[in-house]
Amino acid sequence: MEKDEIFSNRLSILGKLAASLIHEIRSPLSVIKMNLDYLSMNDSTMSDDYIESINSCKESVNRMNYIISNFSSFAKKIPKEDDLVSINELTQVAVKVAQIEARMQGLQIVCDFQQNIPNIRICKDKLLQVFLNLIYNAIEAKNKHKVIMIKSYLRDDNSLIWEISDSGVGIEENSREKIFSEFYTSKENGTGLGLNVCKSILDEYNAVIDYESEVNVGTRFFIIFPIKE
Ligand SMILES: Nc1ncnc2c1ncn2[C@@H]1O[C@H](COP(=O)(O)OP(=O)(O)OP(=O)(O)O)[C@@H](O)[C@H]1O
Ligand SMILES: [Mg+2]
Repeated sequence: MEKDEIFSNRLSILGKLAASLIHEIRSPLSVIKMNLDYLSMNDSTMSDDYIESINSCKESVNRMNYIISNFSSFAKKIPKEDDLVSINELTQVAVKVAQIEARMQGLQIVCDFQQNIPNIRICKDKLLQVFLNLIYNAIEAKNKHKVIMIKSYLRDDNSLIWEISDSGVGIEENSREKIFSEFYTSKENGTGLGLNVCKSILDEYNAVIDYESEVNVGTRFFIIFPIKE
């Protein structure tokens, strides 16, 4: 009993420490990001080596921001205002953030959007996080072909579909139960929070996330957004 109590006390202190650490890291990180953006304003006068080095720093900062966001979404439900969001426009934003990482691996992210689809009411920041998680997973899947495809379209039953397909390692059928649970990862540097955070965000908005996959062929993750009349 006593041991359990000490352990749960420690856990709660650790949780608070992690939350304040995340809070403290955010602002120096945004200073680094601002300065990197400033440096790349002069990239026409720089050698390729310099540009590559700046891009690599930018990607690392993006990565840190992404991990921090997943941790804070996981740690607590952050109440945020909903916005009227164009999923096509928001996807473009996400693709831009993940572009450096994709390029470094020689991958192209191709978007095929249906135009004139309805906007959805959802928190923009949270949905951006969902898109980023899925795009990063696709990039990290060790793709055989150099294209990752993102589509948006309206289905006959009046739901809105967003999907991303890769030609990577695929997901074994017996991992189906595991991949959405917290801290499950098959990656050396993964935290295993990405899909868990996606699912809890989408659950909040009654949107469904699922996937189809074939080992060594590829994976297609899709989100079904309900459309309110
Ligand atoms: N597109 C994909 N192709 C193959 N496996 C995938 C794909 N997306 C997810 N997975 C599997 O699901 C696991 C969990 O994914 P999740 O995004 O939750 O965590 P992660 O990517 O390992 O780490 P993090 O997202 O925190 O960096 C991955 O480690 C991988 O095994
Ligand atoms: Mg991930």
